[in-house]
Amino acid sequence: MKTVLVTGAAGFIGAWTARALVERGDRVIGLDNFNSYYDPRLKRDRVKALIPGVPIRTVDMANGAALRRALRRDRVDKICHLGAQAGVRYSITHPLVYEKSNALGTLNMLEWARERGVGTFVFASSSSVYGDNKKVPFSVDDRVDHPVSLYAATKRANELTAHVYHHLYGIHCTGLRFFTVYGPWGRPDMAYYSFTKAVLEGKPIDVFNHGRMKRDFTYISDIVSGVLAALDRNDSWGIYNLGNNQPVTLDRFIRAIEAATGIKARRRLRPHQPGDVVATWADIESSTRRLDYRPTVDIETGVRRFVDWYLDYCS
Ligand SMILES: NC(=O)c1ccc[n+]([C@@H]2O[C@H](COP(=O)([O-])OP(=O)(O)OC[C@H]3O[C@@H](n4cnc5c(N)ncnc54)[C@H](O)[C@@H]3O)[C@@H](O)[C@H]2O)c1
Repeated sequence: MKTVLVTGAAGFIGAWTARALVERGDRVIGLDNFNSYYDPRLKRDRVKALIPGVPIRTVDMANGAALRRALRRDRVDKICHLGAQAGVRYSITHPLVYEKSNALGTLNMLEWARERGVGTFVFASSSSVYGDNKKVPFSVDDRVDHPVSLYAATKRANELTAHVYHHLYGIHCTGLRFFTVYGPWGRPDMAYYSFTKAVLEGKPIDVFNHGRMKRDFTYISDIVSGVLAALDRNDSWGIYNLGNNQPVTLDRFIRAIEAATGIKARRRLRPHQPGDVVATWADIESSTRRLDYRPTVDIETGVRRFVDWYLDYCS
């Protein structure tokens, strides 16, 4: 039995990943600081519902001394580093939070791995590292040196820092570039959540860039299967796209919400937002070949599952 330390375990992807690890018989230790970027009650409820009984170390990864103290008794075989300050738009107004949680937090986790002889470090990167890449689909061989938000810059920095720890200390590091992940227990700051809430409350939704956006929405269970495969494969160094390879227009996505809720959305067309990219689309050829990663959930099915959960949780 392996012990996996999951950072961001109270978060959307972290809680589902931790649950899948427990279900297949791994031992899991969670770590999270339960910050209030969005309602921490949702984080506590996720932990209760998805990973009851899993020990959670409550600590800020940006504080190296506190991190060491919190983990002093823990022996772990692998780290699944999903904790971070997420969100592109918030990084426009709060750049320092991203440097702390993402750049310094990740460095502290890698230092801890080095000090404690942890050999495997699988971490969350993001499709945002591709910036405004015009070539689609986005391949892991594309250049990623033109980020357009500080969130993206810190995610790319994480990849570079991890490479250093792989090179200098032989830690097996794999970066996973997630593409717009959605599903039950998801994040209130993301459009699928806020649009669903607004539609159900009869409020208008802001459709940015006049709806001319495409996102490669990826359902949570598909992402989790990719994360587990990366932990098992244990590449000495690897970068993978975890997307759906099926970009969806904002309009189709809103229609999926309308179908699932049975309510017509009131669309309010808005201009392009700084830091947003127009389209994302993952090339998943190498993820399929090496991780046997095969996403299966389409947007209509995934949104319906999300809306069912939302109605149950928020009623
Ligand atoms: N959801 C997506 O669409 C998406 C897309 C690309 C990348 N990612 C990345 O995937 C990972 C998980 O994202 P998520 O959607 O589950 O977000 P989330 O915000 O739900 O989860 C992140 C968790 O990390 C915790 N955290 C943040 N800063 C911390 C710190 N300094 N110390 C300890 N804990 C801290 C938060 O409290 C939160 O519970 C993140 O690294 C994110 O950047 C997510």
